Amino acid sequence: MLIVPGPASKELGAAISREIPCKKVDVEHKIFPDGESYLRIAGKVEGEDVVIVQSTYKPQDTHVFQLISLSRTARDLGAKRVVAVVPYLAYARQAERYREGEAVTSKIIAEMLEFSGVDLLITVDVHSEIALKSFRIRTKSLSSVPAVVNYIKNVKGIRDPVVVAPDKEREQHVSLVAERLGTDYIYLTKQRDRLTGKVTTTIDDVSTTKVRGRDALIVDDIISTGDTMLNAINLIRKAGSRDIYAICTHPVLASGALEKLMGSGLKGIAATDTIPSPISVISVASIVASYLSSEKNY
Ligand code: R5P
Repeated sequence: MLIVPGPASKELGAAISREIPCKKVDVEHKIFPDGESYLRIAGKVEGEDVVIVQSTYKPQDTHVFQLISLSRTARDLGAKRVVAVVPYLAYARQAERYREGEAVTSKIIAEMLEFSGVDLLITVDVHSEIALKSFRIRTKSLSSVPAVVNYIKNVKGIRDPVVVAPDKEREQHVSLVAERLGTDYIYLTKQRDRLTGKVTTTIDDVSTTKVRGRDALIVDDIISTGDTMLNAINLIRKAGSRDIYAICTHPVLASGALEKLMGSGLKGIAATDTIPSPISVISVASIVASYLSSEKNY
């Protein structure tokens, strides 16, 4: 097996190759003055199982195109199998046509990956399983929970924590975090206006009682604008919680999001390295490596 870290995931790709361990083949990469990508797989891949590691965070379209180009090139060069490790799978939020005429972009991504010759797609905490249903190739969404829990256990000073899902969709994920920490969880109710993007969040009485006087760990899959997290922080604080920590898998971090959250009085904030960022302190490398190492997964 060869690991080929794409331009978007050089560090994570290298970390995965060290964890397995296996050979790494680098990608020569530059952006031309007009914005187009130059890519070259700088090693022999013929007859090999080739694992391209390329996350698709901002600029999403460039990173997606680089991913497609690398997979297609590995296939052209005679790779036996091509595995795409896409730690953050862009466009997974648009998995359905919510309004007439919308492009179902997650389905388009699925078709492009198939076209490029990918045999297996591996991602982490996909936003919605519906997004994976569009794929005709095999897919696997790995859970970041073991890495997140391991991180939380090593944060000094967290007392009597309750885990908080900022919306009902995250309940299952958060319940697993709570179970592994040996504590309980609550979930908030969130509504997002599809036209304006405005987020409204509420908390019920039972949950208010549960968080009072306790530390709160708010766990979400994505922080983009930060509005979901900020609403949760404000509600939980109002409900009387003690220290509040924010944790997410994918720090998409739209412009101004981090500043907004840093100024919210949080005790701590952390994310995984599916997307490199100043808060990406939890690595998913060993989770990906152990899946890749297991023969039964092929
Ligand atoms: C949405 O359902 C996701 O789980 C996240 O809560 C959402 O993507 C966060 O976005 P934002 O930071 O823009 O509120």
